[in-house]
Amino acid sequence: MNNKDTPTVDIEKAIKNCYSTWGEVYYDEYYGDGAPYPPVHLNLIKSILNDAGSKRVLDAGCGPASMLRHFLQKGREIYGFDLTPEMVLEAKRVMGQLGVPESHVWEASVLNPSGYFCDSANDDKYDAIVSCGVFPHLREEDEIVAISNIYNSLMPGGLAIVEARNALFSLFALNRHTYEFFTEKLIPVEELRGFATNEENVKLEVALEQLKAQLRTDLPPIRKGKAGELGYDEVLSRLHNPLELERVFKEVGFQEVEVVFYHFHSLPPQFSGSIRNLFLQGSINMEENPRDWRGYFMASAFCVVAKK
Ligand SMILES: C[S@@+](CC[C@H](N)C(=O)[O-])C[C@H]1O[C@@H](n2cnc3c(N)ncnc32)[C@H](O)[C@@H]1O
Repeated sequence: MNNKDTPTVDIEKAIKNCYSTWGEVYYDEYYGDGAPYPPVHLNLIKSILNDAGSKRVLDAGCGPASMLRHFLQKGREIYGFDLTPEMVLEAKRVMGQLGVPESHVWEASVLNPSGYFCDSANDDKYDAIVSCGVFPHLREEDEIVAISNIYNSLMPGGLAIVEARNALFSLFALNRHTYEFFTEKLIPVEELRGFATNEENVKLEVALEQLKAQLRTDLPPIRKGKAGELGYDEVLSRLHNPLELERVFKEVGFQEVEVVFYHFHSLPPQFSGSIRNLFLQGSINMEENPRDWRGYFMASAFCVVAKK
């Protein structure tokens, strides 16, 4: 989906449509035994919350309480909201079984400042706000709104943990994302075309085709919907450069901003299929150090962790 000219309201409509069939199956698919990769981010985020002693925690874009259900512990209040009604329904069911009041889960967008509180009678600020899997679905111009809303909903000293898909991993993946990163973010293609001679322009196009031919641009496969709804790759699902996202957090006023990486790939993904177990073991070993500099290139996801 082209996000430049699409209004936020239409983007959110498409996102809701995409996630409408995932309410009941999302947890099993990504956190259950059949998940393609263990949910390593869960322990990472839990340990950050525990180390900070977070007592009042909000999950902004909580899905079916996939992470939230694991945050429950004695002395901690947990809250969550999500854009997609089917996700909220499932999150309420799961939280209800754990004894969390139904009112602790509600429907809202991260772009709405009042959406961060379940009602006006309960608008105490949080000491931690987690948001995983949401930022890929925000337009670039909207992400500062979400980061400011998170900042304003935290108490002083509160912690933000925001997950994004790592755009720099494109350099290690050697696939379609690599080609897009080279031609859209690194090489100033339009500028070169502008001052090249006719002869140079022809050679430039040949060079770009040769670059493409060296990469598996047929990978990764485009993810389509399960039952006629829009698939993950058919709605806005952006990648983020950790160096740039870190800067936006600082601009909003966050301090002690750092990046932690997860979903390491011990090999470029296209080579992982034939030696699956070796790839998995090597990747899981790398998860032990979320601050490993190789994460900038070899991890497909990261969290910005920042203090108000
Ligand atoms: C990939 S799922 C992640 C769910 C959960 N946070 C997790 O990590 O397991 C992304 C979720 O973000 C929600 N979402 C997308 N855009 C949102 C927005 N603007 N405000 C709130 N939730 C949003 C979707 O409805 C979906 O449930």
